[in-house]
Amino acid sequence: MYIRPSPNLRKRFGPDSWCLITGASDGIGKEFSFRFASLGFNIILVSRTLSKLEKVENEIKEKYPNIKTKVIAQDLSDYSTKMTDKIEEETKDLRVDVLINNVGACSRKLTLYIDTKLREDKLMMNVNMRTLVVLSKLYLKKMLKRKNGIVINLSSGSGKSGTPYLATYSSTKAFCMLFSNNLNLEYKEHGITVQGVTPFYVSTRMSNMKPSFFVPSTKSFMNATMKQFGSERNIWPNLSHKLIKFFGTMHISYAVERSLLTSKGLLKNADERRQKRAKKLQQEHWRLERGLSDIFQID
Ligand SMILES: NC(=O)c1ccc[n+]([C@@H]2O[C@H](COP(=O)([O-])OP(=O)(O)OC[C@H]3O[C@@H](n4cnc5c(N)ncnc54)[C@H](OP(=O)(O)O)[C@@H]3O)[C@@H](O)[C@H]2O)c1
Repeated sequence: MYIRPSPNLRKRFGPDSWCLITGASDGIGKEFSFRFASLGFNIILVSRTLSKLEKVENEIKEKYPNIKTKVIAQDLSDYSTKMTDKIEEETKDLRVDVLINNVGACSRKLTLYIDTKLREDKLMMNVNMRTLVVLSKLYLKKMLKRKNGIVINLSSGSGKSGTPYLATYSSTKAFCMLFSNNLNLEYKEHGITVQGVTPFYVSTRMSNMKPSFFVPSTKSFMNATMKQFGSERNIWPNLSHKLIKFFGTMHISYAVERSLLTSKGLLKNADERRQKRAKKLQQEHWRLERGLSDIFQID
């Protein structure tokens, strides 16, 4: 599987083809932008911060002077009609052949589900699921008319095995994985490739981890992704991530995850909070029991 050559996407789409990438100003999205520019695609970069987008745009122009670029500064947690109208309007004259649903929102720290602010849960659901569904619908319809197109969705290994302390995030990523599988089955006969891409940790601002065997850099993650493109409905590009998946998602992956998290002191904090809460609940339970035994005079 690792010697599979990258597909010749340039040939498949011809000239004047555009690739739209969400969450393109940093991390994996930025790497996707450079990779697709190197393949000859014009690039539409979408994320919240205009200054960051313009910086990436300038870097692309410098490295690939023949590539056209466009930036759309948009908060994708607002999945309203206004948001879709804006993106549709800005791209109406461009042939978007590749849509990369890369943007993702994750809790800043590991927390028990009940301690996560509802505002944060809603944000993760909006960015990771609603925007994914809305943008896929928008561009898939147009791709279907041309019988050609690619949709790439960034999921997460946390959505496969289940990840305590990241309950909402990991569940939204499970949705993303299944959504990609379903669209792949529905549209592969119509010339559309829907590719789920599933990493465990990658060294980016989101993970805040240095590159290592288990935590690839964005570059090595991208190399592996492009090599395995189209090989399965949902690819787990990196060897280390495949190993985690292979050796029993609920066992080794959980152990590796715990050790990575423990090494960052994150798990300790979450565990301490859990223990404190359990103690508090126990005390409340005792108080209640004592109260009841006073009322009903039971021993
Ligand atoms: N890194 C990992 O370890 C890892 C593991 C598994 C899965 N993933 C998934 O891979 C994808 C990329 O993650 P990453 O690590 O590359 O993230 P990252 O380095 O934190 O970059 C996030 C990008 O998304 C943009 N963004 C964030 N919130 C946004 C919003 N509400 N609206 C529009 N743009 C927004 C950011 O730019 P602005 O801040 O300017 O908006 C930035 O360009 C995500 O779907 C993530 O869930 C990552």
